[in-house]
Amino acid sequence: MKDDTLERSATLRSFKPARIPLPRDPTPFPEGVAERPVDLEIGCGVGAHPISYARANPERLLIALERTATRFGVFERRLAREGTPKGLLAVRADAIRWVTHRVPPATLSRLFLLYPNPYPRPKQANQRWHRMPFFGYLLTRLVAGGTVTIASNLAWYTDEAEHWLQEVWRLEPVARDELTKADVERARTHFESKYLERGQRCVSLTYRRC
Ligand SMILES: C[S@@+](CC[C@H](N)C(=O)[O-])C[C@H]1O[C@@H](n2cnc3c(N)ncnc32)[C@H](O)[C@@H]1O
Repeated sequence: MKDDTLERSATLRSFKPARIPLPRDPTPFPEGVAERPVDLEIGCGVGAHPISYARANPERLLIALERTATRFGVFERRLAREGTPKGLLAVRADAIRWVTHRVPPATLSRLFLLYPNPYPRPKQANQRWHRMPFFGYLLTRLVAGGTVTIASNLAWYTDEAEHWLQEVWRLEPVARDELTKADVERARTHFESKYLERGQRCVSLTYRRC
């Protein structure tokens, strides 16, 4: 890897918001956000975490983004059946487009990237969230002191993410939780539950923007 400071500025410079297409979904960033903290989950899949998180945190607002129609459809049907918690806004959108064009700077308190696609092949490395030029832009949407949580069942992925979060993005470590099969009852997401059931170890990292 190049020198980390150079890596950071090169990565930041290469993100060009004006070149990102507009999101197809018309949902705007919610109003009245000064009244409560706003959190964002990217790639929420079938929505298990957003639903339980919003129920447990009624004083906050969680925006949950998922881009695939099939997974978002399962999420929407569950919300229709059980009712949408007051503090949840579910949006079917590509996160890069939606965040780039809809999220004002310094508005998010917590960001969740739970079991993101790992893109394991060397040629795909720059598609991992923490290595994307977009990630620097995403961090500018966090308030000072805001946190980012990344979880994965792949040790190489969380090791690499830790390096980038600390050395390239200069975030401060807050928590590193290891989950095993014994934790399956408190699994937060569909994928977390699947991996823990199989006996895989999952790691959840939380870092803070200084
Ligand atoms: C491996 S799944 C994990 C889903 C969920 N977080 C869980 O743990 O059960 C990764 C999810 O991220 C979504 N995703 C990937 N890139 C995305 C993007 N740019 N915008 C929105 N969702 C995205 C995928 O469609 C997929 O549903």
